[in-house]
Amino acid sequence: MEKGKVVLAFSGGLDTSICIPLLREHYGFDEIVTVAVDVGQPEEEIARATEKGRMLADNHYTIDAKEKFVADCLFPSIRANGSYEGYPMGTALARPLIAEEIVKVAKQESASKIAHGCTGKGNDQLRFDFIFRAAGYDIVAPMREMNLTREWEICYAQDHDIPVTVAKDKPYSIDENCWSRSIEGGKLEDPAFHPPDDIYAWTVSPKDAPDAMEEIRIEFEQGVPVALNGKKMSGLALIRELNRIAGRNGVGRNDMVEDRILGLKAREIYEHPAATVLLAAHSDLERLVLTRSELAFKRIVDDKWSELAYMGLVHEPLFYALNAFIDKTQERANGTVDVGLYKGSVKVLGRSSDSALYSDDLVSFDSTTLDQNHAVGFSNYFGLQARLLKNLKKC
Ligand code: ARG
Repeated sequence: MEKGKVVLAFSGGLDTSICIPLLREHYGFDEIVTVAVDVGQPEEEIARATEKGRMLADNHYTIDAKEKFVADCLFPSIRANGSYEGYPMGTALARPLIAEEIVKVAKQESASKIAHGCTGKGNDQLRFDFIFRAAGYDIVAPMREMNLTREWEICYAQDHDIPVTVAKDKPYSIDENCWSRSIEGGKLEDPAFHPPDDIYAWTVSPKDAPDAMEEIRIEFEQGVPVALNGKKMSGLALIRELNRIAGRNGVGRNDMVEDRILGLKAREIYEHPAATVLLAAHSDLERLVLTRSELAFKRIVDDKWSELAYMGLVHEPLFYALNAFIDKTQERANGTVDVGLYKGSVKVLGRSSDSALYSDDLVSFDSTTLDQNHAVGFSNYFGLQARLLKNLKKC
């Protein structure tokens, strides 16, 4: 049996709630400290975690990491056009930050181990474990070590007077923060099942969205959004406002089959209105200000960055190196992008930047600044080797 103090990553949901008596009774820890980290979950969820942690654990912390999440995780992801198989990674990006905050508490409390309530099937266990192990902690994960079923958990909770809030008719697992809302489980596990409309909370159905296009303007400085419709805002306020605006236009629903780190394919449904708009606007702006070769190389960098971010491998040396490249390119990612939102679709309507590598004078059909005859010389050499080979084959 274990002895001593354990710090538990706590959400107040069924899994992490029953971890508290399990860590006492089954593992034998004599002190349990719970930590809830606020990265923009619904306020009721944070309130529930705080209340339950205080009630069930020996000590509880609720840490507000919302601004840090935006500045340290979401902004870098926008700069990297962060997307894994089309998923902007709200859950994935939050995990390392949550884990780092828990490590801080574990140190402060001189805990001997860190516990989490992840199952052995998902990605979060790996993202958490990586950070905890890197900080030198051993991990206790009752859900995956004891192979528990949902039914057993509910009975165990009832035996321990832990309130269970899983609704029978909507048995979905939902993970929400300001970047995305992930919905999985229950009937949605059948990839052929058509999701009912009531699973969505941030977006209206595109068919019920307004008939007129809503136009917005986003201003970027060094690859991050700083103003919406001409109004300077903090990142968090801007993302929240954009979630409302894009959500009411049916933008940001995403129903996909995703390849988890372990190799399991999972059916996931997401809502991420602000992320959809910001990523579309940011990558459009990059097309105006970066060179052709920068863009081509950055596509590879962004892809690798997203894969590492999805896995939560944020201390991988390659991740730091990719960030250094991205930082350099984003020095010029300044400008505004006008976007139209219409019944679930996002369309860039126009863009402008002081750093634009664009000259209407050079490209215009109406201008004679460039002497078109110079192109003849260029054309003489163009595709030279291919032409030589083609002629050889004729002989
Ligand atoms: N598949 C996503 C990820 O690994 C989201 C998981 C969300 N979890 C949930 N309980 N809905 O990042």
